[in-house]
Amino acid sequence: MDIYKYKDYEDMSKAAAAFVIREIIKKPNLILGLATGTTPIGLYKYLIKAYDDYIISFKEVKTFNLDEYVGLPRSHPESYYSFMHRYLFDHIDILPKNINIPSNDPENMERLATEYNAKMFGNQRDLQILGIGQNGHIGFNEPGSRMGNMTFIVKLDEQTRLDNSRFFKSIDEVPKYAITMGIKNIMFSKQILLVASGKNKAEAIYKMAYGDVSDDVPASVLQLHPHVTVMVDEEAASLLNMTGNHLTF
Ligand code: F6R
Repeated sequence: MDIYKYKDYEDMSKAAAAFVIREIIKKPNLILGLATGTTPIGLYKYLIKAYDDYIISFKEVKTFNLDEYVGLPRSHPESYYSFMHRYLFDHIDILPKNINIPSNDPENMERLATEYNAKMFGNQRDLQILGIGQNGHIGFNEPGSRMGNMTFIVKLDEQTRLDNSRFFKSIDEVPKYAITMGIKNIMFSKQILLVASGKNKAEAIYKMAYGDVSDDVPASVLQLHPHVTVMVDEEAASLLNMTGNHLTF
């Protein structure tokens, strides 16, 4: 695992975008795993800039999103489908047929999870972008989720619903369930880039890097992946024992 520290959110976002841009330049038909949440918005902003500046094209890129709320129509502004279009897809030349976001029809969840898995097995991701929850979740693999899980339906942690209630009128409106790639799907990506910003992520980052590998902190499993890059700002890195700006182990 390589951890890089940046002064602030903006610097971290630029560096994370540069990382993704390099991968797209190396492999224009990159298979890219995407995350939602506040953290990657800056990264997406700089990807859009690189597209506007004719540095990269997304014409051949294929994407797979980590997760989606169950029961929110795709047209809802807080669905991850809407989020991804608002912050990335509507501003680049990606082909709609290359966009994959888990479907969230509550009637058919088990079948939809199986189909999403099958599609991912035929399309091994070259790079998976991740954020991290305050409770150490990745995707919506909440503490206690089994490491062997593939795409599944998860009951969201109260902490996660509370964290995400900032996007809704009240916590009652935050969906209780989501469909998410499992840890096994995440680990199946050839490379992983995790971004985190702010003091409220410092403990999760510390446990991810230094803690025991355990179901209690799902992100700790990343210690076992051969190719993980973590980009954090100073606040998120504040509990790490970093003398310079780079840690590798
Ligand atoms: C989103 C996702 C989540 C978020 C995490 C951090 O697709 O899978 O794991 O990455 O909850 O969210 P933010 O960035 O909003 O703090």
